[in-house]
Amino acid sequence: GFGPQAGRSIVLIGLMGAGKSTIGRRLAQRLGLGFVDADAEIERAAGCSISDVFRMYGENAFRDGERRVIRRLLDGPSRVLATGGGAFMNAETRGLIRERAISVWLRCPLDILVRRVSGRGHRPLLNNTRPRDVLERLMVDRHPVYAEADIIVQCGDDNVDNSTTRVIEALA
Ligand code: S3P
Repeated sequence: GFGPQAGRSIVLIGLMGAGKSTIGRRLAQRLGLGFVDADAEIERAAGCSISDVFRMYGENAFRDGERRVIRRLLDGPSRVLATGGGAFMNAETRGLIRERAISVWLRCPLDILVRRVSGRGHRPLLNNTRPRDVLERLMVDRHPVYAEADIIVQCGDDNVDNSTTRVIEALA
C-alpha cells in the first residue's frame, strides 16, 4: 500500500482553498509525522511574502524557488508536505513529487473554494479579480494534471477530521 511506513513523504496538492495546509497539519499529527508548508518555507527562504516574490521577481522566479524548496524538503525525512496550488503544474516539480513522494489531490467543489479564499488578500493570483472566475479557469486547466496524483480524495463537504480520515483510509 501507500502507507507512510513506505518511507516516502506525503505531498498534498489541489487548488487554493482546498485545505492542503489545514488537512496536512492534522494528517501529520495523526500519522505522527512532521508537517511542512512549502509556501511558508518559500517565504522564509525569500525573506518576504509570496505576494512580494510575485511582485518583485515574477511568477517564473517563484516557480523556480518553489521547485528548489520542494526538492530540498523531499530530500529530508518522510513527512507531510502541503504545496501551493501551482506546484504540481510545473513539469519538473511534478516529476520530483511523482518520483519521490506519494501525491494526494484534495479535490474540492468550486463553491467551497470560492467561499474559503474570499476576503483574504495573500494570494497574488486572486488579486484584483473575481476569485470565482480565476478558480473556474484554474479548474479547467489544472484538474486534468492534478488527476495524475497517486490518490484522489474528495474534500470540502465535511469537517477537517473526517476529510483527514478519508485521506488516511485512501493511504492504507
Ligand atoms: C498558487 C497557490 C498559492 C501560492 C501562490 C500560487 C497557485 O498556494 O503558492 O499564490 O498557483 O495556485 P495555496 O494553494 O496554498 O493558496
